[in-house]
Amino acid sequence: MLDRKILVTSALPYANGPIHLGHLVEYIQTDIWVRFQKQRGIRCYYVCADDTHGTPIMLRADREGITPEALIARISEEHQADFQAFSVAFDNYHSTHSEENKVFSSLIYTRLRDAGHISSRTITQAYDPVKEMFLPDRFIKGECPKCGAKDQYGDSCEACGATYSPTELKNAVSAISGEKPIEKESVHYFFNLADFADMLSAWTHDGHLQPEVTNKLAEWLSGGLQQWDISRDAPYFGFEIPDAPGKYFYVWLDAPIGYMASFKNLCDKQGLDFNEFWAKNSAAELYHFIGKDIIYFHALFWPAMLHGAHLRTPTAIFAHGFLTVNGEKMSKSRGTFITARTYLEHLNPEYLRYYFAAKLSAGVDDIDLNFDDFSQRVNSDLVGKVVNIASRCSGFISKRFAGRLSGHCAEPALFVEFIHANASIAEQYESREFGKAMREIMALADKANQYIDDKKPWLLAKEDDKDDELQAVCSMGINLFRVLVAYLKPVLPVLATEAERFLNIAPQTWVDTLQPLLDHAINPFKPLMTRVDSDKIAAIVEASKDNLEKTVNQPKAKHFEAIADTINFDDFAKLDLRIAKIINAESVDGSDKLLKLTVDIGDEIRTIFSGIKTAYQPEQLQGRLTLVIANLAPRKMRFGVSEGMVLAAGPGEQEIWLLQPDEGAVAGHKVN
Ligand code: 2FM
Ligand code: ZN
Repeated sequence: MLDRKILVTSALPYANGPIHLGHLVEYIQTDIWVRFQKQRGIRCYYVCADDTHGTPIMLRADREGITPEALIARISEEHQADFQAFSVAFDNYHSTHSEENKVFSSLIYTRLRDAGHISSRTITQAYDPVKEMFLPDRFIKGECPKCGAKDQYGDSCEACGATYSPTELKNAVSAISGEKPIEKESVHYFFNLADFADMLSAWTHDGHLQPEVTNKLAEWLSGGLQQWDISRDAPYFGFEIPDAPGKYFYVWLDAPIGYMASFKNLCDKQGLDFNEFWAKNSAAELYHFIGKDIIYFHALFWPAMLHGAHLRTPTAIFAHGFLTVNGEKMSKSRGTFITARTYLEHLNPEYLRYYFAAKLSAGVDDIDLNFDDFSQRVNSDLVGKVVNIASRCSGFISKRFAGRLSGHCAEPALFVEFIHANASIAEQYESREFGKAMREIMALADKANQYIDDKKPWLLAKEDDKDDELQAVCSMGINLFRVLVAYLKPVLPVLATEAERFLNIAPQTWVDTLQPLLDHAINPFKPLMTRVDSDKIAAIVEASKDNLEKTVNQPKAKHFEAIADTINFDDFAKLDLRIAKIINAESVDGSDKLLKLTVDIGDEIRTIFSGIKTAYQPEQLQGRLTLVIANLAPRKMRFGVSEGMVLAAGPGEQEIWLLQPDEGAVAGHKVN
């Protein structure tokens, strides 16, 4: 067993946004599994990277006035700080925008091309004539062809749920320039997935996938495999395709190759043998932990690409479900779209690691974070059961026996029972049934507490001649605590390390044979974990809430109050102030203060809700220029999402004056 060699990955997070609790389900799940393997002494490497390519990242960098390289460097630091704070311990964290990834992407593409698995043909696509770029579906907006809802994306309608192609949208405009897209031809490169139909039919039934995933794939396979479009035209932030100038690999082509790139980077740092893990005949195990939304890429495209390029295919793909919060999809307006950072500002990350572990299974079911359940489980299991054992016993040991444990084991059978449980707990960890593992460990914690309840050390302490028994009982409790902490170590690495310091022992490996600590000095006990403070949960929800509604409902003219405090230049420089052209203005049903403005800010069309209705008729505003803050975080209101703020001044009511630039200004000009 110990000669296993394992390489593990989690999906690479996009470099255009923060890590949130939804992401953390996967990173925590993977990290627990990897820590468990390492604790057992198995050679196991865990690699990840930022997923850095594609149009949204390119446009965001553009908007921020920085290079994509500067943007991805900043986001990578933020991501890594979050992972570290949650004890997600990668052996290597890299980037898909790396030399290794470029080399492997070219290699795999070239091998596929030389084997005849790539074809090219001309396709017609929406094109933004102003921005001079082809438009991904998400960058085309218009009216839904089914229900007529305005401002819908080119692929699906958020109002009625219809899916369609961008050409079906009515009155479509580019979300980048606001211009009507034209149709334009371009040569694209395709991966002939159908060449791998037989290979994939066999592979997807060969023990590499969870049963429910195999069933889903059988549906896709029976529906026939389409060619996969793997190229994008310039401008695009990515890798140029060898021998195809101006054509770039689609982000999803080089993203999974990023797993190899990150591992190669690790191999070069540590002198490991890359081929031992990736060559066609590799005996190493390769596991990808992913969310169920990206199964298609990992269980069809990826094995086919690897097979076609004469590389090994994954040992298994482990898909998990989505995170809901209090039973619903995470939502900014409800304050349940919680970033890793916001959580960390208020609560102990190990609470969340334990809670997710307690909820996780090997299946693809969604998991729910219910805050009441969260507090209750952490308080009752970790604080009330596990940590309590140590706190109940340690006081007597330190006060009455100078911190020394008894020289004999009071209840050898109970200790052996705890050690024997390791096999079944290990099996649960190995098969990703973490919820079952936690239940088994908590059942043992109940037994340990029951033992202490039965022996009543607090009564023994009152009798003169029961010192030996008191020491033996408390030592027994501490020895049982020690075994529980070893079992919880993959989930609670920080608590485990602090417990090892208290127990005065070396870092614990997986316990399959273990002698109790006898006649051994321990250190004074410090509380290892405190109860969840429900005020902190409320603070997280509040901090995660989108506050536009609060702003809009504030007393009138709040926006225009004089600001007494000064801000420094750096604060000011953070504002992306731009000239914007109001393309459309309309009243908002149900609001006597708001106008819904459609504004052109140069590289995008935005919707902004503004409390200026008392001062302006919508018709007055159409076509005029004004000033907006373009980098205000989007805020969800009762009437829709507002994507910026227009600047106005005045005491309120009819006296609100929209700022207006002099002649010559053009939408998109920035205030420097
Ligand atoms: O869905 C996502 O967030 C992607 N960035 C995951 C990529 S996983 C792998 F293929 F790189
Ligand atoms: Zn619709």
